[in-house]
Amino acid sequence: MVGKIEASENIRSTLSLGDTNSFRLVDGIGDNLPGIYVDEFAGRRLISTSFPELLPELRDWASSLAPPVTTYWKRLDQRDRKSPDLISGTPVENSFEISEQGVRYLVSFESGYSQGIFLDQRNNRRRVRDRCQPGDTILNTFAYTGAFSVCAALAGATTTTLDLSQPYLDWARRNMELNGIDPSSQYFCKGDTFHWLQRFVRQKRRFTGIILDPPTFSRDQDGKVFQAEDHYGHLVSLATACLSPNGWLLCTTNCQCLSRTSFSRIVEAAIPSASRTCQFPMPPDFTGDQYLKSILVEI
Ligand SMILES: C[S@@+](CC[C@H](N)C(=O)[O-])C[C@H]1O[C@@H](n2cnc3c(N)ncnc32)[C@H](O)[C@@H]1O
Repeated sequence: MVGKIEASENIRSTLSLGDTNSFRLVDGIGDNLPGIYVDEFAGRRLISTSFPELLPELRDWASSLAPPVTTYWKRLDQRDRKSPDLISGTPVENSFEISEQGVRYLVSFESGYSQGIFLDQRNNRRRVRDRCQPGDTILNTFAYTGAFSVCAALAGATTTTLDLSQPYLDWARRNMELNGIDPSSQYFCKGDTFHWLQRFVRQKRRFTGIILDPPTFSRDQDGKVFQAEDHYGHLVSLATACLSPNGWLLCTTNCQCLSRTSFSRIVEAAIPSASRTCQFPMPPDFTGDQYLKSILVEI
């Protein structure tokens, strides 16, 4: 196993990821290590596995590193979403800073199942940053810690960051501050994306670009279920109604039961006025299952 991990480390060292200190070091089947994922976060590591217990070989590998590397382990289990456990090195109790193509984000190993950033969206964040310009208005729905908003705001756009969770919106504000953006110059909305999109339509509020990255499955406060394979098209229709002329939508999903083709059909069927659509692959450090589907639609 150690030989395979070293081989995947060698492959990552040949990738040019820019000013980036956080990336996927081992990607399961893509590195001949099914069920094992290792992410590097600014010199600290997170091992995620689909196995109920940490494999002894992985624990031994983590503790044998010299100099010691702080390493956490998390079991991938959507029904039991626990914070990672420290398995080697010194604990990192507070959030810490990572850099991705020169943009800074706060990451935490001890505040929940997710660490504050989804590394697989790196190239989409870059795309948003490259597309945005001063004067643009960008709506980041299902925003989590606001990483897409930070990229849009760095390019001069005015952003609206929308999430159900107040702690995540607070985290998004801290991510903005970390990058020299005054959060009071940006908008933050707490609540359900579907409710807000309908409210924006009624208010005739329009956006240059909208980012849709919903969870595969969620249930709102009223018990209403969102399931990507059944409801993504409706989400796209609602968002399209909030776009300015010549606006764009970035639609992404990691729903395993949607193929690239079926996702693309759903999105295109919901936007008859699309003038151009473009699908993107996952970043090069994600060598395994290509679960993340990303489509940019221009109106
Ligand atoms: C998959 S994460 C989104 C990741 C984010 N787009 C990123 O790249 O960092 C899902 C987020 O959606 C939020 N969420 C779930 N259901 C929601 C809803 N109905 N309306 C708004 N936010 C929702 C959750 O609180 C969580 O922060």
